[in-house]
Amino acid sequence: MHVPYEVPRLTVSDATPGAADVDLIIIPIAQDYTAPAVAAYDEVVDGELSAALERGEFRAQACELLVARASRREWRARRVVFIGGGPRAGIDAERMRRMAATAAQAARQQRHQRVAWLDAEAGTLETAARVELIAEGLTIANFDNGLHKSTNDRQGFITEAVILAPAEAGAAAATGRMTGESINAARVLINEPGNFLTPRILADKARDLASVPGITAEILDEAAIAALGMGMLLGVACGSAEPPRLLVLRYEPAGAPAGQVLGLVGKGVTFDSGGISIKPADGMERMKDDMAGGATVVAALRSIALQKLPIRALAVVPMVENMVSGKATRPGDILRSASGLTVEVNNTDAEGRLILGDALWYARRLGATHVIDVATLTGAVVVALGKTTTGLFGTPEPWLARIRAAAAAAGEKLWPMPLFEDYRELLKSEIADMVNSPGRPAGSITAAMFLKEFAGSGPWAHLDIAGTAWAEESKPWQPKGATGAMIRTLVDVARGGISGV
Ligand code: BES
Ligand code: MN
Ligand code: ZN
Repeated sequence: MHVPYEVPRLTVSDATPGAADVDLIIIPIAQDYTAPAVAAYDEVVDGELSAALERGEFRAQACELLVARASRREWRARRVVFIGGGPRAGIDAERMRRMAATAAQAARQQRHQRVAWLDAEAGTLETAARVELIAEGLTIANFDNGLHKSTNDRQGFITEAVILAPAEAGAAAATGRMTGESINAARVLINEPGNFLTPRILADKARDLASVPGITAEILDEAAIAALGMGMLLGVACGSAEPPRLLVLRYEPAGAPAGQVLGLVGKGVTFDSGGISIKPADGMERMKDDMAGGATVVAALRSIALQKLPIRALAVVPMVENMVSGKATRPGDILRSASGLTVEVNNTDAEGRLILGDALWYARRLGATHVIDVATLTGAVVVALGKTTTGLFGTPEPWLARIRAAAAAAGEKLWPMPLFEDYRELLKSEIADMVNSPGRPAGSITAAMFLKEFAGSGPWAHLDIAGTAWAEESKPWQPKGATGAMIRTLVDVARGGISGV
């Protein structure tokens, strides 16, 4: 049986690389390296670095690898992995994390379990931020997605990692490791197939993930959901043999600014068949990841609490399975939302906005002043922005600016999309307050316009992660499957605080 991940022991040490008691040392090197630096490393690897550079076998491009033998007798490590950084000015948060994860993957492939990272390349980053990213990168590389394989392949997890950097960076490393652990845990949930992760199971597992000091959890069952009048959530749930759940997490640290509550809302569809408006068979299996937004907000709140950030925050995650049956909602049915608005369901596959509408309303009712929802909401956002950039929607502008700044610091890509009033008329219905599916034009925008009707009047943002939640192909820094996108960005929003918006 495979283990999904292991969190390595991680320390920061100002020891010299030769003294580090590890099997392998990772050395980052920018493309605009200096001759003295290469000469110094050459002494350790018996000229292998300059030889590889001269022959063009290694060019220090971003995330390029060179594995060499440490020939110095007095060194304890036997191997050196050089990890390219590309041009120094381009070594930002995303690049540094990818470099760390790529090098750690290479160490695992070489069967080295005790590794050190020599903090020799700063790029554009401050020490604490850099060490945090390195720790996070080393931790997320210790992840495999073959949880259900019965063979007992050797996974070669890193057991011990040392970052050779100023000792003051110890706290930053611990934070990065903890964030990496949250990301890994979220990725395990996102990868789980629908039969292993029903709404009830997801509710339990998400609550367990968030059971850290300072967080209180509540799981509402179908009766409690009905009592709140959440007709949209129930309308999606009723086609499934599995009942829905609504997870509510609260983090209210003493001394946090009163009057401000960050509300995180995440889409928790454990499987999206499309319902009666059924999806094509090809690729439908991926729809097990349709709860990625839910896992993201739970993992983020966990990290916020573990960092003891001085901010009040809550998470609301509606959990359902969107299925086909004699009890399923039909196209044309009308649902009444908890807010009182009525919706004509002209497409049962536009289910995410229905469950999020009720959840957004509830987050406001629980006192959220600043709301962010995260959802694998539309295929259209993949058409617009592709697989590496998250769509950002919402209002007002300063709130979106906060989120963009947080994403930049976190090394994640998102890009703003418009919510012009003209789009509102596309939601019109003859017989109800609105339809849930206005059709193909501006598909990710009309989905966001629908959510806006339930988002209340305070700051609200919607992150469409339909493209970014899942990697279709594996990369040196990330295996195929769940990515954990936007967890770090949400944590960085909380770090920056929400006052003044
Ligand atoms: N979960 C899907 C969106 C999705 C599509 C995520 C592809 C990841 C990859 C969502 O529930 C959905 O089915 N959206 C429809 C909306 C349409 C019916 C208006 C879509 O995008 O096709
Ligand atoms: Mn759908
Ligand atoms: Zn969906």
